[in-house]
Amino acid sequence: MDNPRAMVRWTSIVGARPQFIKLAPICRAIAAHNQAGHLPKIEHSIIHTGQHYDSAMAELFFVELGIPEPAYNLRAGSGTHAEQLARMTERLEPVLAREWIDRVIVYGDTNSTLAGALVAARLEIPAAHVEAGCRSHNWSMPEEQNRVITDHLCGVLLAPCRTAVKNLAREGIGGARDPRKRKVALVGDVMFDALLANLAVAEVCAELNMRRLGLVAGQYYLLTLHRSENTNKSERLASILSAVEDLPLPVVFPVHPRTLRIAKELNLNLDGGNIRAIAPVGYLDMLVLTKYARKILTDSGGVQKEAFYLGVPCVTLREETEWPETVEAGANRLAGIDRAAILAAVEQPAADFRRKASPFGQGKASELVVAELLRGHAEDRRHAAD
Ligand code: UD1
Ligand code: UDP
Repeated sequence: MDNPRAMVRWTSIVGARPQFIKLAPICRAIAAHNQAGHLPKIEHSIIHTGQHYDSAMAELFFVELGIPEPAYNLRAGSGTHAEQLARMTERLEPVLAREWIDRVIVYGDTNSTLAGALVAARLEIPAAHVEAGCRSHNWSMPEEQNRVITDHLCGVLLAPCRTAVKNLAREGIGGARDPRKRKVALVGDVMFDALLANLAVAEVCAELNMRRLGLVAGQYYLLTLHRSENTNKSERLASILSAVEDLPLPVVFPVHPRTLRIAKELNLNLDGGNIRAIAPVGYLDMLVLTKYARKILTDSGGVQKEAFYLGVPCVTLREETEWPETVEAGANRLAGIDRAAILAAVEQPAADFRRKASPFGQGKASELVVAELLRGHAEDRRHAAD
């Protein structure tokens, strides 16, 4: 019989919009564990790298999703990848070195993820990766580099789907033959948990939001566009916009600040034709905009999955995806950036994918993450006692 320590200390490192959404259900699951009086009690703190800093990209999500205040904000801000990573790692190191931390948790695939995993590894703090094993197999993407390196740095890999587990196995991570005995656990997608926890609340805001934007359910498209491979090449950005402008229904477009900045620099109009460019919206508004859209056009990772969960067909403005299950289910078409291909993909009737079983779990991923990490502590103690 285990004699669990009375308390363990975990630290989540986040910094960009999708990470706040992934963090929220983990905070809830930790709170539920503590409220139930289970041992060990989890003392959980948050380090915000400050990669995203506009209120609409960061603070808004803490407020909407009830995420506890970060213990630290490293204010890393924007810059080149090297500048951003350097500021994050430099500022993170003394914080992690100073605190007594049993486990660091990193999320997704941003520069904040990589910085957290790297500093934890150098300080020999056990680290867990939420959304481990996802691969686009496009090594030129900064996110792909971040994911692969993060997975190889972390000891606990929390995979959202079977494909991710297979990707890790292919890289020698997990299983009996892994010399480092890293733990791979299939937990499902924490973003599904977030969606299920917030949809009903979001629906209450629906009418207000739609009316303000002049949108009618089922009679508009939703566009998001921010990936560096699309925004940093003017011909790709221009090609996407030229297709979307010509769609037959209004296209609501919450514009990511990266895209806004680049469009201004290139003198590109984000508001042409049927496009209605708006400021980035909060998570609740985003769920509603997604749910009632005719189709989604996006290069976002998270938005592809949310479209799938909400039963809305998606056209992905990329050549590949980390979420092949959505394509296999007939929910998602990879259109790339060619104008004719985008228009054809939007016009094509969608397959009926709504009744298919979710390959991303049952909306209990965050509880499974907490259980898996607690099991890790128990195993550590057993090894120490051997
Ligand atoms: C980052 C992630 C990307 C993720 C996205 C989520 C990396 C390499 N990329 O991309 O994987 O999909 O977050 O949204 O980590 N900016 C602002 N205000 C902000 C934040 C950013 O104006 O609050 C502008 C700045 O001009 C900045 C640019 O957006 O240079 C890009 O920000 P950055 O954090 O470097 O990358 P993202 O494109 O947001
Ligand atoms: N999102 C949001 N407001 C927006 C655009 C996106 O709340 O204006 C949410 C979206 O619902 C999803 C997450 O942000 O939960 C996706 O983040 P993003 O597209 O920035 O990054 P990615 O998932 O591509 O890494």
